[in-house]
Amino acid sequence: VSTKGDFDHFMMKEIHEQPDLIRNLVYKYKSPQVIEKLKKVKDKFDKAETIHITACGSAWHCGILLKYYFEKYNKKQVNIELASEFRYRNPTLRKNDISISISQSGETIDTLASLQLCKEEGLSCFSIINTEGSTIFRECDENLLIFAGKEIGVASTKAFTLQVLTGYLLSKFCSNDLNNDIFKEIENLAGLIDEIILRKDEIKDAAKSYYNKRGYIFTGRGFMFPMALEGALKLKEIAYVHAEGYAAGELKHGPIALIDSEMVNVVLSSLNLQEKTLSNAQEVKARNGILLGVGDISDKELLASCELYFGLDLSKVGDLAGVAVNVVAQLFTYYIALFKGNDIDKPRNLAKSVTVE
Ligand code: AGP
Repeated sequence: VSTKGDFDHFMMKEIHEQPDLIRNLVYKYKSPQVIEKLKKVKDKFDKAETIHITACGSAWHCGILLKYYFEKYNKKQVNIELASEFRYRNPTLRKNDISISISQSGETIDTLASLQLCKEEGLSCFSIINTEGSTIFRECDENLLIFAGKEIGVASTKAFTLQVLTGYLLSKFCSNDLNNDIFKEIENLAGLIDEIILRKDEIKDAAKSYYNKRGYIFTGRGFMFPMALEGALKLKEIAYVHAEGYAAGELKHGPIALIDSEMVNVVLSSLNLQEKTLSNAQEVKARNGILLGVGDISDKELLASCELYFGLDLSKVGDLAGVAVNVVAQLFTYYIALFKGNDIDKPRNLAKSVTVE
């Protein structure tokens, strides 16, 4: 039986579990049993012309990030799709392509149907999954478990983080780069998330100041783009406010028209594409938008542009910076929902596992 322990909500408990679960993931992915599984996936991954990733919600955001990793580290062509669209289209599937389903529950109906479509076409099917023995788990040729333990909060936090890291480990394994430096980088990430959690009161204060604004736009570039989508989804889910996630470069193609003094723009930045992100942020500021930022401690210019800036030392976590930044967004969302008096673990209209269309 799962209990909340010292926490008021499972969501907060699950946010706090992340550092230890990350350390445990490293331990698991050094074990011969898991390495054996990685080898089986790698064999097909290496030969695949296209990798089709299908998922829903937060798992889809994870898939977008994995596309960026597989392109950068593995030079692979990746097709990341919303499972609910993929299953009803006529996607081009070739026999030596592979399918990767990402799912916490392993029961999401659209993700399952997409997997079945790939199976019928003769593709090798793999998963990044939390629930051992679930339907998706049983249908796949091989599964990479994320070892997140049971996730009870409807808003996914720890499962999302561990899905990303499992995909990152797979990417590094397939490029023959899974070595102690990578494990160290992941452990640095766990340490950084510990620090964020210790600073949660700063995030609570920010939420208190901004919880009643009209709307929120999360923006980021590169690896921060899927995190912007994830930050906005979480806010919609449990805070019931209008939130959008955008690639920062897309702002001027429409959404910038929404910017005024009641609109909060949460800028997610990293050491990657820093200048570009800054210039998009300055455009928002010039239109009287409320600018909040999360990024590297060295980014003095972004700090100077923002009403509030949450600086982190992102120098030792490489391309995993987004995972840390997302934990700040998880906490921000949690506190906004708390100040609004919402039911955080069981938000209205939502089910933990979507098993019907
Ligand atoms: C995440 O906060 C959501 N509750 C939701 O988007 C979820 O990620 C989606 O329904 C997919 O679920 P799954 O991982 O169990 O397949």
